[in-house]
Amino acid sequence: MTDIDKSISIPMKKIKLTSLLLLALFSCKEDGGGGTVPPEETPGILKEKAAFGIGAAIKTSLFTDAVYTATVKKHFSQVTAEWEMKMESIWSSSTAYKWENADRIVSFATDNGLEVHGHTLVWYKSFPQWFKTAKYDSVTFEAKVKEYIQTTVTRYRGKVESWDVVNEIFNDNGTLRSVDCPVFATFRDPIGFYGRCFRYAHEADPDARLFYNDYSVVLASNKRAAIKKMATRFKNEGVPLHGIGDQFHYRVNTDKNTMKTGLNDMASTGLLIHISELDIVVNTAQSESYEFTATEAAKQAATYQYIAEIFEAIPAAQKFAITTWGVSDKNTWLTDYWHRKEYPLLFDQNYNEKQAYKGLLSGLK
Ligand code: XIL
Repeated sequence: MTDIDKSISIPMKKIKLTSLLLLALFSCKEDGGGGTVPPEETPGILKEKAAFGIGAAIKTSLFTDAVYTATVKKHFSQVTAEWEMKMESIWSSSTAYKWENADRIVSFATDNGLEVHGHTLVWYKSFPQWFKTAKYDSVTFEAKVKEYIQTTVTRYRGKVESWDVVNEIFNDNGTLRSVDCPVFATFRDPIGFYGRCFRYAHEADPDARLFYNDYSVVLASNKRAAIKKMATRFKNEGVPLHGIGDQFHYRVNTDKNTMKTGLNDMASTGLLIHISELDIVVNTAQSESYEFTATEAAKQAATYQYIAEIFEAIPAAQKFAITTWGVSDKNTWLTDYWHRKEYPLLFDQNYNEKQAYKGLLSGLK
């Protein structure tokens, strides 16, 4: 078998990589002394190297920036709305839905061959004010939420491949979140209610893969145990739960070994695994004098690389996707929620690939 035969029998993604390598080989320049100067190393492109989804949280307010949209299209294979597909954004009153922004996110994805991971159908923080004020009894509450889930999932059936059905219901100590949680305040068996939410979503789109999503899953062992217990209950009761997401809003100094142990424990459920909102804080001390130096960039790159490696080490069939929570350091929720000086993502303010990008890329198999 010649090399050409080999490249014909391998998947599309690999053909692209092979051509890139050939291109790099043949584009070596002659130098003055008659030798060849190798061109800058072509590091490759995340979505082409990964055998699973590479996602980014996006928002329509940035669609006017052509560099932003070009970056998303070039490097990512799936998108998630950072907030425009949350209940609060869509469900404007008890009788009205506002689809405009969510529709634009989904059209952007379909027009550009990207998958959409929907985020999120039920989240305590995103119940609209009008809903909370109504103080529905459990029967009306559930009928309303069922209608919301089914209207939304049906609208995007076939276009949104997967959904976070339920987000952040546990405290880190494994108890159910009670503070500000309308579900906890209304139902005697909140987990029973959440299970029915999965059933409602599944009825509306039987092909969509349905996730439970939370933060600190790999770090907080009691929270993880509670999630696993819920997954077992759902399995026994036939609730369609297909995957678990850990947001991965972590830091350069987050303990790596704990991340690995926790991720493997998540994978022991046999469910799909999603690193769903990845970003890595560098200004851990929240210092005004912080500078994102080359040394800091290298530390961050090492963290990204490690995360790719531990994700690659879980069983292939369970690797759903790695999604970063934003695209460039120019627009990250962490400059509001963490510190003004923060540089957590894969691209810098000018959409150049950071060391972090190369780190994540080199951690992929
Ligand atoms: C955040 C968005 O990034 C912000 O823009 C918005 O104001 C609040 O929500 N966990 C989640 C995400 O599941 O939905 C949150 O996103 C970040 C924490």
